[in-house]
Amino acid sequence: MEDYLDVYPGKTVLVTGGAGAIGSNLCRHLAGLGAQVIILDDLSSSEQWNVPSLPGILFVEGDVLDEVKLKRIFFERPQIVFHLAAFFANQNSVDHPESDLEVNGLGTLRLLEYSMLTGVQRFIYASSGCSIYGSSAPLPLREEFVSLNLSSPYQITKMLGELYCNFFYNHYGLKVVKPRFFNSYGPGEVPGQYRNVIPNFIYWGMKGEALPITGSGEETRDFTYVGDIIDGLLRAGAMESAIGQEFNLASGKETRVIDLANIINKATGNKKGIQFVQRRKWDTKSRLLASIDRARKLIGYEPKIPFEEGLKNTIDWFKEKWDKIEGSARFSPGISSAVREHLTK
Ligand SMILES: NC(=O)c1ccc[n+]([C@@H]2O[C@H](COP(=O)([O-])OP(=O)(O)OC[C@H]3O[C@@H](n4cnc5c(N)ncnc54)[C@H](O)[C@@H]3O)[C@@H](O)[C@H]2O)c1
Repeated sequence: MEDYLDVYPGKTVLVTGGAGAIGSNLCRHLAGLGAQVIILDDLSSSEQWNVPSLPGILFVEGDVLDEVKLKRIFFERPQIVFHLAAFFANQNSVDHPESDLEVNGLGTLRLLEYSMLTGVQRFIYASSGCSIYGSSAPLPLREEFVSLNLSSPYQITKMLGELYCNFFYNHYGLKVVKPRFFNSYGPGEVPGQYRNVIPNFIYWGMKGEALPITGSGEETRDFTYVGDIIDGLLRAGAMESAIGQEFNLASGKETRVIDLANIINKATGNKKGIQFVQRRKWDTKSRLLASIDRARKLIGYEPKIPFEEGLKNTIDWFKEKWDKIEGSARFSPGISSAVREHLTK
């Protein structure tokens, strides 16, 4: 076991959003390290069956805005807080901007307040690469660049969360860390109308439907395997050098969306190919590629899982859980036609 992981055994760790795509993987790792994990999640964008059922994990179903639940949980004196709960993500926030502000803005402020008041030793905030750099930053995206021209309410409120973290760090000395994730993918993410491209492509591929590409397909993303994000988070929660810092957690590699679609169609045996649909108005980034120099330097972060391997693990997970995934995928009835209609709005 790496030395920095020594901080986790026996610690009480709160993970908000612990039922979600990244949170469920994080909680499994934390429990494996011997931490006492409390999950707070309202299951608004995740499934009960995805919550790891392991000794050492306590699942509390509830809203981060629910002060009764927060008081009860902070009475247990968590020492480390991973704040991953969020109103997810861009299109959802365009459709429901006030809910986005409540959860991502007020929810984050509440978590920071309770953490500060109860002496939490480390607060790790799940920030977002797409929320800080806007669409005109030079590539690779570096932490010093900040854009004030963001293209969705989600991007605005995820940045707001970072700003609140900075206030609590500077004013109260709360030890915050702000890793900025890029396009996480992997086992644990259930497809749905507001979910990311990889689980949705796999889902449609397995159902034998054409994959809708919202743009030219030449767009690139920095797809990061969830296992690498978890490694970065565990470092963020443990290492002194991370305190007060923001840094990208990414793969440092670009993949074209059209290549992704072709790989997934091949891997799922989908003969229906691809279908081009109109770009979404908020989707202003033609390329995403992050520099991971700062994370390397500060916390020794190094992505380990090659894209092909990560994709294979994800497809294997889909096959293993297919009945549950198919029953839970949150799309309107008549799924792909409804989604395509939605995407062209
Ligand atoms: N997935 C990505 O590519 C990505 C990229 C950048 C940043 N992030 C951030 O990482 C975090 C985790 O992302 P994810 O992909 O696991 O998303 P997710 O939607 O799978 O997980 C978020 C969890 O928060 C829960 N939640 C939502 N509102 C809540 C509320 N009011 N109270 C309690 N729980 C609530 C949801 O039910 C869900 O389980 C989020 O904060 C997200 O903004 C994710």
